[in-house]
Parts: sequence; structure tokens; C-alpha cells
Amino acid sequence: MTKVPFVDLSRQHNEIRDELMACLTRVLDTNAYILGRETKDFEAQFAEFVGAKHAIACANGTDGLVLSLLAHGVGVGDEVITVSNTFFATVEAIVSVGAIPVLVDVKEEDGLINPELLSDAITKRTKAIIPVHLYGQPVDLEAVNSIASNAGIAVIEDAAQAHGALYQGKPIGSISSLTSFSFYPGKNLGALGDAGAITTNSDELATKLRSLRDHGRTEKYSHHEFGWNMRVDGLQSAFLAVKLKRLAKWNEDRSKVASIYHRELVGLSGINLLKTNPDVKHAHHLFVVLSENREVLQAELKKRGIEAGVHYPLGCHQQPAWSTRFESCSLPVTEKFTAQCLSLPIFGGMTEQEANCVVETVKEILG
Ligand SMILES: Cc1ncc(COP(=O)(O)O)c(C=O)c1O
Repeated sequence: MTKVPFVDLSRQHNEIRDELMACLTRVLDTNAYILGRETKDFEAQFAEFVGAKHAIACANGTDGLVLSLLAHGVGVGDEVITVSNTFFATVEAIVSVGAIPVLVDVKEEDGLINPELLSDAITKRTKAIIPVHLYGQPVDLEAVNSIASNAGIAVIEDAAQAHGALYQGKPIGSISSLTSFSFYPGKNLGALGDAGAITTNSDELATKLRSLRDHGRTEKYSHHEFGWNMRVDGLQSAFLAVKLKRLAKWNEDRSKVASIYHRELVGLSGINLLKTNPDVKHAHHLFVVLSENREVLQAELKKRGIEAGVHYPLGCHQQPAWSTRFESCSLPVTEKFTAQCLSLPIFGGMTEQEANCVVETVKEILG
């Protein structure tokens, strides 16, 4: 029986083990543990990769969203529109700055924000929209940005799952006022621990973000505003710079796996594939299918050595932490996704043979 893991980071890391070990030696030799040279270099390389003027690295993707909201002056009582069909952190970031999350439903065809619902969700208190490029597929940014710009509100993209994705030929990270990335280890570009970054073309927002992530300081002991400690380690920055050089290749591996899944699983009764917008290059962070018998399919795959995941089993509005906050929320499409979504294995370093094995196994189970 061929076993296919959901993700295998060792394959990526074994390829570059010597380079990663060299980072450790260099950081030990230079004592550049927090921010410093390694971070500056990685920020410059990541900014170039996404075609943005600035990249500001920070402690993790959640802090990237929090810093982005703070940099736009979002605070207590302001409303921020986003989706519930996302990882908890998107909504958590809004709540943690004291703002009110307003959740809109997603599209049936791809699980991404439905721009048609935005106008009705905007009020006088709306300060920002956080569209999430979930599973690695860019949202319809043209529609979101045009609605936001007509209403005079900011767009902060949550690109935690979309490193290397393109929208109308432009890299995600180069388009809206701020874009936040996570470098959680399992992401398309992952650190060997926690890290994140925000990209922007605005000098003003970049300066503000650098200050906010580091205690609001301009010099070592001169603090011109209230800030936080949301800094990134030098070591993680060094690791990320090594891994960034491989990102295009690892994304290509994901893309090949996704093509096999699409080609072989389309039309199969028992599962539905999500639609890819022809205007985008998908980063294929996750390959999600919908199944009315998700639990059975997942268990049968597991019996045959194939690990599948669920992203996510509950919408943010259904999470126990918010049992009363979103009581009146009606998000039927999100709830359909949370009940039916199943993520098949996909990762940088996964082979076509493994993808074919997943396909054959799914076909065998669905008969
Ligand atoms: C869509 C989304 N937003 C935000 C985050 C938060 O990133 P981090 O775990 O680096 O804080 C994640 C990470 O899982 C994510 O997938």
C-alpha cells in the first residue's frame, strides 16, 4: 500500500539541509537574533518576489493582520467585513483590535468571498474589508477593490495561503494597500517556526508598520507611539530567504498535483470540485473537494494510507469561543463548506505518482 501523507516538510528540508544549517551558524556568529541584517535581506527579497515596494516581516500571520488593521487606524467600535469560511485568526485579528467583525457568505463555486454581498454589509462604521485568498485562490479583487474604493474603505488582503498566486497577471501582495502573509511551517512558504509579513507600496504605511511591530520606537529608547512586540527572529528570516528561492518550484509541484486531481476527478459522482477563476494563478495551498459523505470518504482514505484534512470543520461564526457573538449570523454557503469540505494531499515535493495513487483510491472508494 502506497502511503500518501497530507504534507511532508522533511522532503523540502532535506533538499536544503546544508543551507539551513549554514543560516544557524551565520546567525550564531553574528548574534543577529531579532530583526537585523537577515530580516532586512529577507524583506527585500520577499518584496521583490511579490512586486511590492516594501515587505515588513513580523512574528506571524495573525500579527500581520493585526498590524495592518492598526496601521489603517481600525479600533474600538469600527466594523471590518470578512468571511467566516477562513481560519479563526482572520476574525480573531479584528476582534483583538476592538473592532466588530461583520461576516459575509462565500460563493458556492469556490468558497471565496461573495462580492455581491458587500454593499449591503457596508455601514458608516465600516473601516476595512479583509478578503481571504482561501486555499491559495485569489478572490475577485477587481470587484472587492472597486466596492471598497467607492465606499472609501481599506482593503487588507489575507494572503496567508497564497504565496506566489497571481490576480490578472499581478502577484498577490502587490495590489491592495496592505497584504498580510503567514509563514507558518505548512504554508507554501513556511518558516521553521512562526513568522509573517505584510507587503505594501505605501512608504507611509511601511514606516508605520515598522514602528508598530517594534514598540512604537524610532530609536532604541525613543518611543513616539504605543506599539507591540510583533518582531520576527533573524533566524526565521534567514531560513525564509533560503526557502523563498525554492518557492516557485514547490508551487509548480502543487500545480502538477492539482492538474492531475482536476483531470481525473472532474465529473466523478460523489464529490464536487471547486472552480478556478480563469483570471487567477492559483497557489494551490490546499486542494479542497466537497463531499456529502465527507467523514466516510476521509475514513476510507485513511484506511488505505491516504491522509486528508478538513479546512475548516466550523465557520468562525460557529466556533465555541463566539457562541453568542454571531448568534444571528446566517451563512448557508459557509455552513455547506464546513460540512462537506475535504482537503486532499498536496505539497511541494509531492510526486505525480502519489497524486495518481490518491486519484485511484478516491475512484475505488466512490465506486
Ligand atoms: C487564512 C489565514 N489567515 C491567517 C492565518 C494566521 O497565520 P499565523 O498562523 O501565522 O498566525 C492563517 C494561518 O493558518 C490562515 O490560514
